[in-house]
Amino acid sequence: MRLYINVDHVATVRQARRTDEPDPVEAAAACERAGADGITAHLREDRRHIQDDDMRRLAATVTTVLNLELATADDIVQLATELRPFQATLVPERREEVTTEGGLNLGPAGAPPDPRLVESIGRLSNAGIRVSLFIDPDAATIDRAAELGVPAIELHTGEYAHTYRDSNAALDRLAAAVRHARAVGLAVHAGHGLTYRNVTAVAAIRDIEELNIGHSVVSRSIMVGMETAVREMRALVDAARVDPR
Ligand code: PXP
Repeated sequence: MRLYINVDHVATVRQARRTDEPDPVEAAAACERAGADGITAHLREDRRHIQDDDMRRLAATVTTVLNLELATADDIVQLATELRPFQATLVPERREEVTTEGGLNLGPAGAPPDPRLVESIGRLSNAGIRVSLFIDPDAATIDRAAELGVPAIELHTGEYAHTYRDSNAALDRLAAAVRHARAVGLAVHAGHGLTYRNVTAVAAIRDIEELNIGHSVVSRSIMVGMETAVREMRALVDAARVDPR
């Protein structure tokens, strides 16, 4: 399983003072030294954490792979096509939200897809970038994603993260969604709200090939340093794969 670390919240701390520390690019290098398979960063339209210059520097220095999260904003799609990260994950964005609160709305079955989404997928794919869509774990949305011709999806694990203490229902839905996505030929990634406490059950779902984890690792890095924080998460993910579900 590939473990990609999202360094957005290193930039959140920096932007709290609009200064030059801590540097998400330096943090990304530490993640790589500690065994991350890739670096994820979200260039939001409101630029609340990662800035364009961070993206440029990440694209120039990441030695593993870069996964750029973005909405269908024209200027950001344009920047992505210039920087050509290994992967672009399209996400929904609302300015008032604290974080990405749900997956992309791909519309009802049978309806024509959002032209902005189709255009963004086309521009990114034509630039040679692997495109993934961040969606909720339900079969109809997965079918819509497959119709859009992308190679991969990232399943939103937020519901699981909010409810795992009380019920297995979200985990069962996630596992069913993973099976469905594989059956229709999509590569499956997952992320959002995963922590040291809840990651194991998700990492144990065999057909998930990539996890994107940010807030929990950056939080822990304040206590133990980035390399140790990533090593600890890496160890949990790898241990879960010994006996996959
Ligand atoms: N995956 C996607 C598509 C996201 O938008 C985010 C948050 O930026 C993450 C994963 C990481 O979520 P978290 O910070 O809760 O680990």
